[in-house]
Amino acid sequence: MQKDNDEIITLLKRVSMFAEAPAETLAEITTLLEPLELRGEETVFQQGDLGDSLYLIAAGRVRVHHEDKDLDELGRGDIFGEMALLDTEPRSASVTTLEKATLFRLEQRAFNSFLLANPEIARGIIRTLNQRLRARMRDLSDLQSAMGKLYQLSAKAERLSRELRDASEVQASFLPQTLPQLPGWAFAAGWQPAKEVSGDFYDVVPLEQCLGIVIADVADKGMPAALFMALTRSTIRSSVSAASTPAKSITQANRLLCKDASQGMFVTLFYAQLEPESSHISYVNAGHNPPLVLDSVGGTFSELGRTGLFLGWDETATYETGTAFLEPGDVLLLYTDGVTEATDPHGETFGEARLKHCLLKHQRASPEEILQRLQDDLRAFIGGAEPFDDITLMIVKRL
Ligand code: CMP
Repeated sequence: MQKDNDEIITLLKRVSMFAEAPAETLAEITTLLEPLELRGEETVFQQGDLGDSLYLIAAGRVRVHHEDKDLDELGRGDIFGEMALLDTEPRSASVTTLEKATLFRLEQRAFNSFLLANPEIARGIIRTLNQRLRARMRDLSDLQSAMGKLYQLSAKAERLSRELRDASEVQASFLPQTLPQLPGWAFAAGWQPAKEVSGDFYDVVPLEQCLGIVIADVADKGMPAALFMALTRSTIRSSVSAASTPAKSITQANRLLCKDASQGMFVTLFYAQLEPESSHISYVNAGHNPPLVLDSVGGTFSELGRTGLFLGWDETATYETGTAFLEPGDVLLLYTDGVTEATDPHGETFGEARLKHCLLKHQRASPEEILQRLQDDLRAFIGGAEPFDDITLMIVKRL
């Protein structure tokens, strides 16, 4: 390649290191520069190599990097490779061309002699190194403030996750800590939130001569659903009484909830009053998955279907009371849609048929054991995946 000396002198004058050097020095340097033509993606040298030259870029671009981490991108008029010549340490970084490039190489011996003879070049070098130092200090201070922000964010995230854990504990304390011990009856219940907090709940309310049984599912997730769950639980507890029918109690609870459900939230709920003496059940199903009654003699199922709209939506909604009767050995299963809509890794849902099959298979077992089997089947069906929705189950058995 032919060197155009005037053009190189113009280029050298743009380099901070040589900017103040006298014209005759620049002309002399020009004669000692060795031109190099490189393709794209070519390594000029690698970090740790011994350095014997510095380079001036006449055309093209190069990247200065530590392995994969980019430190800088340099182009026409920039120099690199001077540090190893000044401190005789190995190369501090690797340099690779980003595209076809023309470089001029100046050997260490020539560089040293120009440096010793020209204080302007020494001053220029100090200027160049100062510029790099200032840039690094700016990067460092940006990095420090970014780290400060990151620290604040992680402290906030830690606080939020602690609050969420506390909320989860408070919510769990809303569920019955023990289930009723009634002669001739056995109960079991399971509550598995998909996240820290849940929109599902079940409840057992002791009433005069009878027992109130509740299962519910708020149609939302996360903290809003958890708050609405707490509101629903208290509203139901204060609305139900043995003196009133389930229809009247739930109609009143719905009116109260509608006043508070400003965010368009609603809840599906099943409420039953069980008279242990007569084995008679009266219930309201407010838009909830129909609980199943398994007849222990015939092995057939009946559903306690819907008797009204979900709660919190329509203040004028009215509810009917349905009735059922449990014979000895019969099983009543209440569940939320997280059970039937649980999906396997292929996207197939667990569905009602699997639920019934499992119940039928273990109908002679205790409620605790039936619950265990159902949960095992669900876990095996979902595979390793996290359940998407809350899973709540309640089993009542007449012994
Ligand atoms: P040297 O250490 O000889 O070889 C690698 C070269 O990359 C180095 O000289 C400088 O010219 C250049 N270099 C190293 N670190 C940086 C950086 N952070 N920014 C820009 N250039 C750098």
